[in-house]
Amino acid sequence: MPLRRSKVLVKWIFENQHKFQTVRCCSSSLRYKEQLEETSAAPELVAPAPTPNAKPRPDLTPEISFKYDDLRVSLAAPYQLQPKPEVEELGFGRYFTDHMLKIYYHRALGGWQKPEIMPFENLSIHPAAKALHYAVQLFEGLKAYRGRDDKIRLFRPELNMERMNLAAQRSGLPMFDGDELVKCISRLVQIDQEWVPHSETSTLYIRPTLIGVDPTFGIQAPDSALLFAVLSPVSAYYKKSRDGAVSIFADPNVVRAFPGGAGNRKVGSNYGPTIEATSRAEKLGHQQVLWLFGPNHELTEVGAMNIFIVYINEHGDKQLATPPLNGLILPGVTRRSILELASQWEDLTVKEEVITMNNLIELNKQGRLLEMFGAGTAVVISPISRVGFLDMDVNIPTMKQPAPVYQRVKDTLLAIQYGHIEHPYARIIS
Ligand code: COI
Repeated sequence: MPLRRSKVLVKWIFENQHKFQTVRCCSSSLRYKEQLEETSAAPELVAPAPTPNAKPRPDLTPEISFKYDDLRVSLAAPYQLQPKPEVEELGFGRYFTDHMLKIYYHRALGGWQKPEIMPFENLSIHPAAKALHYAVQLFEGLKAYRGRDDKIRLFRPELNMERMNLAAQRSGLPMFDGDELVKCISRLVQIDQEWVPHSETSTLYIRPTLIGVDPTFGIQAPDSALLFAVLSPVSAYYKKSRDGAVSIFADPNVVRAFPGGAGNRKVGSNYGPTIEATSRAEKLGHQQVLWLFGPNHELTEVGAMNIFIVYINEHGDKQLATPPLNGLILPGVTRRSILELASQWEDLTVKEEVITMNNLIELNKQGRLLEMFGAGTAVVISPISRVGFLDMDVNIPTMKQPAPVYQRVKDTLLAIQYGHIEHPYARIIS
């Protein structure tokens, strides 16, 4: 074969090698509309939520963004490719794919640099980087699903992008055009597509992260930042209990968020400081913390999830309720999707309302509390059957319902995500 032709062939093989390795799969118009900023939805059950002063709607239009068209791709060499674990071994966030996305921002060089997809590697950052000292960082979590038709779908990625930009703004990190990042991430997933599990109990978790990296101790907007995305094949986030539900501990001595704080932004500093309280809950035989706020012990979130209850309201109707986005609560993509989808169901009233521990206990005593569950991207839906609070154990009949709402919500979400039904929330990327 002439030298030029064989060089072209070698280059082609190198660039496409990920496609023909031995394939070892990871296993054989809406009534509800969320506003970008917090609402103080009329509470029905009790006193009003602590409503922070109305904030101006953030300007999310970045002046200069990186562009997908500038993306450079360098593929891993065959020796750099990792074996793919079996689905049973996955756990959550323990394995990573062969490639990652990196986009630097340097103010001195005009802002965002060209996006790059490259073999997965460790980061090298200066020990004074602001992300390490002042938590000048944010992250996101979304998933790529392999459908029954073998197509890979993302679920409402534009909402993660919107939330990233809101968090970036809060920490002085540079904003960007979310559509461009979705395109870069979609390319990354396409390159590592054999890492998207061939299983409907597992997914590829996508973790875009933005960190301030300039090496100065000043607490100011960073002049340099790094946006990166890594991919991890995952299965269940929690170990399942015998009945499939979790027990949670409502500890009135700790808060996750406070009015005017950053509890409504996906920043790492909302998660690290929950670890001690969670360990305390675990020692008491629970799996997660139910985060309360204020003298009325309002329910805000559970673990790293939004909280929902189902109960019989004063009109005798079945009502699905979650606390309003009052600044203390992460505007979850799953939360919003549940509200939007369930508000289409004729047999259910859907409300954002303040829920206090007293409400919960009273509804339970009256036999009107039917279900409680957490919802989030990582977990999807996690039914709750017990709440420990002060010296009480509130047993919730979630798992005793003949046709539970949590299951209907979960089935609907999974049907959209895995392509059993065509739905505008799901975006086919490959
Ligand atoms: C998610 O549901 O994606 C989360 O943010 C949970 C994560 C902190 C593990």
